[in-house]
Amino acid sequence: MKKYVLDLKLLGVEQLREGYGLLRLTDAKAPLPEMSAGQFVEVRVDASAQTFLRRPISINRVDREHNELWLLVHAVGPGTRRLCELAPGSVVNVVLPLGQGFTLPKAAEARGADAPFSLLVGGGVGTAPLLCLGEELVALGHKPLFLLGGRSSSDLMQLDLFRELGEVLLTTEDGTAGERGFVTQHSVWASPSMRNCRFVYTCGPKPMMMAVARLCREQGMECEASLENMMACGLGACLCCVEDTVDGHVCVCKEGPVFDTRRLKWN
Ligand SMILES: Cc1cc2nc3c(=O)[nH]c(=O)nc-3n(C[C@H](O)[C@H](O)[C@H](O)COP(=O)(O)OP(=O)(O)OC[C@H]3O[C@@H](n4cnc5c(N)ncnc54)[C@H](O)[C@@H]3O)c2cc1C
Ligand code: FES
Repeated sequence: MKKYVLDLKLLGVEQLREGYGLLRLTDAKAPLPEMSAGQFVEVRVDASAQTFLRRPISINRVDREHNELWLLVHAVGPGTRRLCELAPGSVVNVVLPLGQGFTLPKAAEARGADAPFSLLVGGGVGTAPLLCLGEELVALGHKPLFLLGGRSSSDLMQLDLFRELGEVLLTTEDGTAGERGFVTQHSVWASPSMRNCRFVYTCGPKPMMMAVARLCREQGMECEASLENMMACGLGACLCCVEDTVDGHVCVCKEGPVFDTRRLKWN
């Protein structure tokens, strides 16, 4: 897929909760390029000596109707903090689309209660690419079932948008929303309806993704995970993002960030 370096205009930053900003960007001159769920953008953070390297951020949503790209940013350090503080009208330079996204199933044939579905399991800011993926699955006629987890109900973001796309199951560690516990402890995993689950996609903290991958292996389901290894160039040149796989060490930024979990040497 062709890559672009674009100066996008920031329409605004909505604070979804303390420390989390939703950046809405647009290209005032042309339609945004093709990009797909699971791919990411490298964002240049201007006016800071500490943030010489671009920061990788997942594609949260592409709103074609309004020509908007959404990025959900967790302010954890100087780069992401600066992005969340930008004023509307700022120019944000991005390289996109980068990496390999989620594998999409063929357009759905079966409909109704027994139709196959995909389970999309996310935690923390790892829910960001699952919104885009949910939209792509719905466009193909598939039913996404979202299983989203956080420490507390205030950690769960964009729930209204997820609910427009499909059923949303929740877990929280303190029991303030959904079932108490981790996403891997949700009762859906033991439900008879899981026999219709064709595919599991996951993004979030690595221990969570590893636990999801283990469950899928035990239940004989295919699973793809989106990794968030440290990155610098985002183009496969600096080798700082390597992951050990059954095919040897690979650059997550180029061959991933999405991988079939059977390829990953996580055990
Ligand atoms: C493919 C990909 C997609 C990503 N998507 C998103 C997203 O949609 N939203 C979002 O908020 N963040 C996302 N991240 C993580 C984000 O890139 C980092 O949080 C960011 O680069 C930190 O930059 P900083 O200058 O704010 O902090 P730094 O000073 O660089 O780091 C601050 C802290 O964050 C940790 N950190 C740095 N980079 C990462 C990383 N890649 N993963 C986990 N922890 C990191 C550091 O260890 C340090 O403790 C993604 C990362 C990757 C690789
Ligand atoms: S970030 Fe440079 S090779 Fe992956």
